Amino acid sequence: MRIFVAGGAGYIGSHCCKALAKAGFELVVYDNLSTGHREFVKWGPLIEGDIRDGESLTKAMRETRPDAVMHFAALALVGESMVDPGRYYDVNVAGGLRLLEAMRAAGVDELVFSSTCAVYGIPETIPITEATPERPINPYRASKLAFERMLKDFEQAYGVKSVRLRYFNAAGADEEGEIGEWHEHETHLIPLLIEATLGRRPPVSIFGTDYPTPDGTAIRDYIHVEDLAAAHLLAVRHLAAGGAPAVLNLGTGRGDSVAQVIAAVEAACGRQVPLTRSGRRPGDPPALVANPSQAASVLGWTAARELRQIVADALHWHAANDHSPRAAAL
Ligand code: UFG
Repeated sequence: MRIFVAGGAGYIGSHCCKALAKAGFELVVYDNLSTGHREFVKWGPLIEGDIRDGESLTKAMRETRPDAVMHFAALALVGESMVDPGRYYDVNVAGGLRLLEAMRAAGVDELVFSSTCAVYGIPETIPITEATPERPINPYRASKLAFERMLKDFEQAYGVKSVRLRYFNAAGADEEGEIGEWHEHETHLIPLLIEATLGRRPPVSIFGTDYPTPDGTAIRDYIHVEDLAAAHLLAVRHLAAGGAPAVLNLGTGRGDSVAQVIAAVEAACGRQVPLTRSGRRPGDPPALVANPSQAASVLGWTAARELRQIVADALHWHAANDHSPRAAAL
């Protein structure tokens, strides 16, 4: 099988490419390298192009004739989406539409979509099932949900089948250290903690210590990027075998607080993380934990790795690859 990986040069996309290649799939990456990295495209050819460029997408898809598409090509920063919502709707919604049109033009009708638990907003009950009401409280979340909605409509009208994977907190790196989390503008907790501990960044601010949680810090369900990649492979196989379209949460079902993540980073690094404290970050829910049982029953998928492994693999990658602003300035 050949997979067309839109956004395959990015963090999660590149880990999926490696997993696809290891499992014997052929793949082609379509990416404009706006947030992805040429160095991360190692398992198939790169077609440089923008997700909003319908002509380029259609040409690429007609030439490469894939059996299915994986779609990671999106913007994903909540704060940025609030300042510049137009860009988020342009890339995540209009770009998504161009991708679906190109698929139809090339006769491709199976898609695995990189969605997010952010569509649930600030949920009233934990753990979160797929039946938890969606509350897209900012443009990023709204844009992801709008594309999910588009997929439903395309399924009904044109028979495009999709698996929408709602990730919880993607983290960690390739166990072999070949690729990892490399964002020019890093906002995620684990890379910030590791790089601060390695002396590459200023102390990390804990956003809120007064949450209604056992230690007062916010709880998230951290999911190893290799476990996410494994779920994508199963999803593409599920569709190829005639499986029904699905919406699935991808998480471990276990929550860790910011304080617990800090303790895990300190244990892995063997030293203290430099820290400061500040108020809550606007829009941050107190706790987001998945009920992943639907993914287990539909795909036979469960997360195999927990926080200790996530931090160990992230540390392995960051220790050998300094992409911090400090390194960029040297
Ligand atoms: N946090 C801090 N200090 C920091 C950074 C994060 O205390 O410097 C805390 C956050 O408040 C949160 C936890 O660490 O409680 C995790 O924060 P991340 O930014 O790593 O992840 P989020 O849960 O905010 O983000 C997730 C996904 C994003 C997605 C977002 C949408 O990782 O890609 O949900 O809500 F955009």
